[in-house]
Amino acid sequence: MRLDRIVLLPGDGIGPEVTEQAKRVLAQVSDKHELGIEFVEELIGGASIDQHGDPLRGEVIELCRESRAVLLGAVGGPKWDDLAVDVRPEKGLLRIRKELGLFANLRPAAVIPALTNASTLRPEIVEGTDLLVVRELTGGIYFGEPRGRGTDDGLRTGFNTMVYDENEVARIGRVAFEQARLRRRHVTHVHKANVLDVSQLWMDVMEEVGKEYSDVELSHQLVDSCAMLLLRDPRRFDVLVTGNLFGDILSDEAAEITGSLGMLPSASLATGGFGLFEPVHGSAPDIAGQDLANPLAAILSVAMLLETSLDCAVGAEEVRAAVASVLAAGHRTGDLVLAGEDRPLTGCQEMGDHVLGAMASA
Ligand code: IPM
Ligand code: MN
Repeated sequence: MRLDRIVLLPGDGIGPEVTEQAKRVLAQVSDKHELGIEFVEELIGGASIDQHGDPLRGEVIELCRESRAVLLGAVGGPKWDDLAVDVRPEKGLLRIRKELGLFANLRPAAVIPALTNASTLRPEIVEGTDLLVVRELTGGIYFGEPRGRGTDDGLRTGFNTMVYDENEVARIGRVAFEQARLRRRHVTHVHKANVLDVSQLWMDVMEEVGKEYSDVELSHQLVDSCAMLLLRDPRRFDVLVTGNLFGDILSDEAAEITGSLGMLPSASLATGGFGLFEPVHGSAPDIAGQDLANPLAAILSVAMLLETSLDCAVGAEEVRAAVASVLAAGHRTGDLVLAGEDRPLTGCQEMGDHVLGAMASA
């Protein structure tokens, strides 16, 4: 097994352009700290469908298994929108998560001081927000059976199943408590237990697991009111833990607090620490290929990769500091500029140049 290999899966839309900048950043850190990283690039999503008729080939999964970590861009786009769910680009992403056992998705949303004014929320609301969404990623309604389309009494139907077993809940619960220990020691479990049986299971199991972590405070919050509180008082949250679907939705909402979805990195981890790192934003086909995308979420995902998979916390800090300084210097991609605001825009590649420059001169 080569421990220094990183698999790049740029994917579709803006995936390739942001991944390119992330790769440059990781290569520079590798040189400086002599990490000896070697990159291998492969296809996922629509790009793989076009070339191989399959959103993710088995051999790519094997390659990932034999590597240190995976850096992914984004998948999907209008070109493949008419395909059935089982052969869409998104299936490649769901398959890699499932096959590699990447059950723990960490999505940190922290407001960088230079961006307090970039959020659509008032600066005094978002200032100082620093939360972490811990999303269960390989279960729940995304994978539950039965699922499908059918007919009932001559009416077309569609159905999915939101199912978790207690072990799945306990293991993601433990990840949340462990993360909270590195932060402000507060876990908010997000649920819909007033309606859903599956949420009642989560309630019971979270309470049980919570007993192992008496140093961490546990509270429970209904998902609808949580969505509201995130906009009203985001600073109240430290670690949020929830299932696959609620986590998908709330993490996009949390992103906007920080100024833009273009800023949010993520790590998807398996037992034992293997990880896939990707920006939370999607493929943004409307701006793809025009050098308009924000590469910072991909670059901040590199920081998470350095810290988690390469044990290089110093490198991670250098990347984060460089991103903060580039923003403090006023460089902004289009997503970081509010409607009506008049300021020059920085392109994707140029943003990458600035980050590399800031790291080199630090
Ligand atoms: C995400 C994305 C994916 C998800 C899609 C592309 C399948 O929205 O990573 O949040 O729903 O998990
Ligand atoms: Mn999403």
